[in-house]
Amino acid sequence: MSPIREVISDKKTNINPIWIMRQAGRYLPEFREIRKKNPNFIKLCLNQKLSSEITLQPLKRFELDAAIIFSDILMLPYGLNQKVEFKKNLGPLLGKLNLNEISQLSEEEFVKKINQVYKAIKLVSGNQLLKNKDTIGFVGAPWTLLVYMINKRSPKFKLIDNFFSDKTSIKKILEILDKFIKIHIKNQIDNGAKIIQIFDSWAGLLNESDLLKYIYNPTLSLVEFTKSLNVPVICFPKGIKNYKEYSEFIKPDAISIDYEVDPSLISKEIKIPVQGGMDPKVLLTDKETIKKEAKRYLDIFKDHPYIFNLGHGILPETDPGMMDYLVKTVKDY
Ligand code: CP3
Repeated sequence: MSPIREVISDKKTNINPIWIMRQAGRYLPEFREIRKKNPNFIKLCLNQKLSSEITLQPLKRFELDAAIIFSDILMLPYGLNQKVEFKKNLGPLLGKLNLNEISQLSEEEFVKKINQVYKAIKLVSGNQLLKNKDTIGFVGAPWTLLVYMINKRSPKFKLIDNFFSDKTSIKKILEILDKFIKIHIKNQIDNGAKIIQIFDSWAGLLNESDLLKYIYNPTLSLVEFTKSLNVPVICFPKGIKNYKEYSEFIKPDAISIDYEVDPSLISKEIKIPVQGGMDPKVLLTDKETIKKEAKRYLDIFKDHPYIFNLGHGILPETDPGMMDYLVKTVKDY
């Protein structure tokens, strides 16, 4: 079995597999090279040859234990026919949401629109570089996708004022998301994804009283679905205040923590395998600090099933040499 699944399924504590969120991305010159020639980000994600090549780029440089498919959580609203664009320095911009139209969308139309993502997963999974390593598929959590679909852009710490005004539509969108996210998960698995990660990047925006409705129940539905397909699922509820309560309610196979929570508290409170935590900004410092911080996480979780990762995506300004140093530090531990 691959090291990551040994940690997740067999609860092994004597190995420290590593992969990094956004490992295929702008900090790599070979990615920027391809990106420069492909100004349309969505089209790039839908180019199976290039997206599989980009997915494998970090594995050619570093001794990572998984590939995460080069795509985006917003390919889902794109598949639902909501317009999605990526503007430089602004991030994603979404178009008008036509509820009548997406209510009538069929599974076939959705799959046809983003089929290249599944083909890329198939290409990547069959590559020699992934021998005894995992291809990680992913989806955005219903809450985070709802945020983008209604807000139409990154909320940057704040939702639009009347975000919750149309409760009937929100209920309807959540039902549609539940259906199509499951289709998206199933197709990624059928094409070679061995693990699914659910990104809830905006979990921290909600009040405690809204968690059950918008995060706990909708995410539980996806976690149970993925488990029923015998594939492990990792949840990353970035910014959530109570990781313990979240883990006990949703029961993912592993929980990915952000850089704002205290890892010692997590190791005491949470029984399931843990992933991540180190602040991506540490990679912008020096080797001594990187080693110290990486070891801090590895020491804290030395008797806990633990997958090394960061507490959010690697930053575009990171020196690939520092990433190399981090991977080697974790492997030598
Ligand atoms: O290596 C990997 O992690 C795989 C690919 C991946 C991307 N996006 C590629 C990408 C993954 C797993 C994502 C997930 C994603 N996308 C999330 C959840 C994780 C998180 O960061 O919180 C979110 C919220 C998005 C939505 C999104 N996509 C935003 C807000 C942005 C703009 C901000 C930015 O970093 O530029 C994107 C664009 C994006 N997705 C890029 C990449 C490599 C940058 C595109 C570029 O080259 O300009």
